[in-house]
Amino acid sequence: MSRETTDPFDDYSLAELRTRRSEKWATYPADVLPAFVAEMDVALAAPIKRALIAAIERGDTGYAHPAGLAAAFAEFAHASFDWTVDPDRVVLVPDVTVGLAEVLRLTTPPGSDVVTNTLAYPPFAPTIAEYGRQVVDVPLLRTPDGWELDIDGLERAFRAGACAYLLCNPHNPTGRVFARDDLEQVAALARRYDVVVVADENHAPLTLPGAVHTPFVSLDEDVAPKAVTVISAAKAWNVAGLKCAVAVAGSESMRARLATLPAEVQTRAGHLGVLAAIAAFREGRPWLADLLVHLDRNRRLLDDLLAAQLPAVGYVPPQAGYLAWLDCAGLGLGDDPAAHFLAEGRIALSRGLDFGTNGAGFVRLNMGDVACPAGGGGRAHGRGHGGPGRQARASPRDASPMPGAVALSARLDIGTHASAWAWRQR
Ligand SMILES: Cc1ncc(COP(=O)(O)O)c(C=O)c1O
Repeated sequence: MSRETTDPFDDYSLAELRTRRSEKWATYPADVLPAFVAEMDVALAAPIKRALIAAIERGDTGYAHPAGLAAAFAEFAHASFDWTVDPDRVVLVPDVTVGLAEVLRLTTPPGSDVVTNTLAYPPFAPTIAEYGRQVVDVPLLRTPDGWELDIDGLERAFRAGACAYLLCNPHNPTGRVFARDDLEQVAALARRYDVVVVADENHAPLTLPGAVHTPFVSLDEDVAPKAVTVISAAKAWNVAGLKCAVAVAGSESMRARLATLPAEVQTRAGHLGVLAAIAAFREGRPWLADLLVHLDRNRRLLDDLLAAQLPAVGYVPPQAGYLAWLDCAGLGLGDDPAAHFLAEGRIALSRGLDFGTNGAGFVRLNMGDVACPAGGGGRAHGRGHGGPGRQARASPRDASPMPGAVALSARLDIGTHASAWAWRQR
């Protein structure tokens, strides 16, 4: 079977995927459909595969060296975000999480307050604590169109003495791409209160049609002199296990600061990760473009299927990435519907509560793992990022044409294997 297709998902059967040994496929028993951790079931992009096989064949498996990475990233950043990056401001870090933490260690005193926004990527709080800083939560605001930054809440936290702000944009789990105007307000506040902004932009290469991602450090550097963007090829090209990310300084002073990171931070990156990232940034954009077409289709297909089969579930399609943040409160399954879906439907979703107490009643579904037929999910939407989404709008009793809660929960009943959302068993 050729692995150089134009549909990045069109390669592996479910049986083949079950032979994988990564977290996604190794965590649950074989009767569970894993749709939790943010890994995709894609075949590797051909340029990445070539680079990795060539390295293995020449026995090139020593320590990582950043040669070529900064220039490749700068090329990608310019083509994707119209962002001019000075390669001198790009530093290799082992992964995005370690990159964020090391920047916090470098730029804030021990014990200082670091602001995050629940719903938050679950490792944020434990990582901040592990590095000896305190988490200050400014929860996102829920609006009919999705989730927004609480700019007033951020100002209060900054004024109260926070030293840093860990911004996640595009946002996991909501898939929100924050507006430039909001980011500019954040930058202005950060300057006023002398707060370091560390922007996790791991999902940025997966920005979907209709949305525009603004790299935080691409904002005017006079406005945001103490900012760092941390980003990688890991999510977009599915190479998280290879360990490579970059931290990009937003100013000359921050570049000088990052230059003082311990050399060991760089050494802990994966050599194969660096080679894969260079191949991705340099030659992987056509593959990524195909992937985004597929993910755009998936987010619309999910909208259609939920509307038809689970209208009580609230869903605002993501503006970036492949994670769907689903409000299951209307199903009457309590604060932790993921437990019910796992027990009854044998589908593993991420638990909403892991993203914060405001995640009660939610689940996160990974849409980067399913087959979607060409033309599927073509419903027209009114708004650029895939439509205004649907708010939960019915009680469990009258919510769905499906016969009862157990049927609703069978594999989340996104098609009960009969619909277009089902796996292609080959
Ligand atoms: C927003 C966000 N940041 C960081 C990570 C982890 O990235 P890494 O494996 O590079 O630490 C993820 C993984 O899904 C993520 O979604």
